Amino acid sequence: MHGRKLLLPAALVLLLSALVACTFNPNASTWSADEVQTLRSLSLAVLKPLPPDPSNAVADDPAAAALGERIFFDTRFSANGAVACASCHMPERHFTDGRPFGVGVGVIPLNAMTLVGAAYSPWQTWNGKNDSQWSQALLPLENALEHGGDRTFYAHLIAEHYAGEYTALFGPLPDLADATRFPPHAGPVDAVAASIAWETMTPDDRDAVNRVFANIGKALAAYERTLLPKPARFDRYVASLDDHGRPQGQPILNDDEIAGLRIFIGKGRCTNCHNGPRFTNDAFHNTAVPGAPGYPLQRGRIDGVARVQNDPFNCLGPYSDAAPEACTALRFMVTEGDTLLGGMKTPTLRNVAETAPYMHTGQMATLAEVVAHYSGGGYALLGHNELTPLNLTAQEAAQLEAFLHTLTEEPSP
Ligand code: HEC
Ligand code: HEC
Repeated sequence: MHGRKLLLPAALVLLLSALVACTFNPNASTWSADEVQTLRSLSLAVLKPLPPDPSNAVADDPAAAALGERIFFDTRFSANGAVACASCHMPERHFTDGRPFGVGVGVIPLNAMTLVGAAYSPWQTWNGKNDSQWSQALLPLENALEHGGDRTFYAHLIAEHYAGEYTALFGPLPDLADATRFPPHAGPVDAVAASIAWETMTPDDRDAVNRVFANIGKALAAYERTLLPKPARFDRYVASLDDHGRPQGQPILNDDEIAGLRIFIGKGRCTNCHNGPRFTNDAFHNTAVPGAPGYPLQRGRIDGVARVQNDPFNCLGPYSDAAPEACTALRFMVTEGDTLLGGMKTPTLRNVAETAPYMHTGQMATLAEVVAHYSGGGYALLGHNELTPLNLTAQEAAQLEAFLHTLTEEPSP
């Protein structure tokens, strides 16, 4: 009898002190050993060196990067003399453009992607239609809505403005002065005259021009390989954690940002796809993002697979420097499955707070809209939606958004 009487108050005291400990615990932001491991796997400190690109013999040649950098900013490489790669990939915007659609000679109804760290990705563009950055670079150059030129035009520009740098890297140019063999405008493009001119060239001359064209891409890719992610506040925070998951020193993230990070690696399941130090698995997923109103739906990876298989500039093609067995990504590419239709490449989240608007057609203007999409779970108009609704509270949504802001690179000290 007496024992039971004492038990109740004692239990209450215990419960109360446990509650007090919870509320006032100075270690509230402590992470478990598993969580610390996850956090470290997201930190830039574990980013591996850029893997070699065997398909591009000049990938890591500084002279090629220097030539590529000049071409990247050179508006002469366009039909109207006003468009360069940098028109849509602006250095001051982490190599995006702040617009929903890319604006070149015309308007391309897709969102320009950041190039920071993109060289790590085995597949380029939202649907992964290219297996290298050098083959990717050739698409905007000949797309009527982007640079709007054609490959003999670009070969002539190289001969005119960059002959010395080019030949030092790649050897002699073809005899481009012979205008009957090498018309000023020729290529497999939409423009009818240039397309006919291309068909009337000899196979050898076409091959010679293709080689110059591919080498332009290889120089551009060498430059793009120098665009690497830089540490953010998040990385400093992870570095500050001791082995018991306790941050040391001055607070680096505030309580909301830490709560958002907890959601990111926990309840939000964001790391299912946005994982590793670039916050991407470089894979394709259907996340039921609607297309831009009034434009045909993007079929995503299913089209990308077909394009890259038939691309003469892919790793297995005649303009690649790789031995066929080195083309592992292409040879072991996933070509069927549920996630191909409507699947888009998981974008990096580094610097994401400064690369609005979002998604493949830039249809979401703010990170709040993106988080709301994940909270609701979306509805796939094409293919199979991989998301399940998270039903976040308003506070959780705000915290998740706050966390995403911690991924912006900091000015180097
Ligand atoms: C008119 C705007 C525009 C121009 C000019 C432009 N791009 Fe892009 N870039 C885009 C868009 C839009 C995408 C997404 C395309 C897609 O998914 O098909 C993209 C995607 C890319 C990607 C893929 C990145 C990744 O992570 O998959 C690379 C690399 C790239 N561009 C490099 C270049 C280079 C090099 C040039 C110059 C030769 C260039 N771009 C010119 C708009 C542009
Ligand atoms: C199933 C894989 C998957 C999961 C899980 C996932 N994402 Fe994504 N994420 C993607 C893909 C794919 C896209 C691009 C979709 C598109 O454009 O159609 C994307 C786009 C984004 C973007 C826009 C980035 C940009 O540059 O346009 C943000 C921000 C983002 N995700 C954050 C998150 C957050 C936060 C979570 C967790 C709540 C999350 N993602 C969960 C695959 C995923």
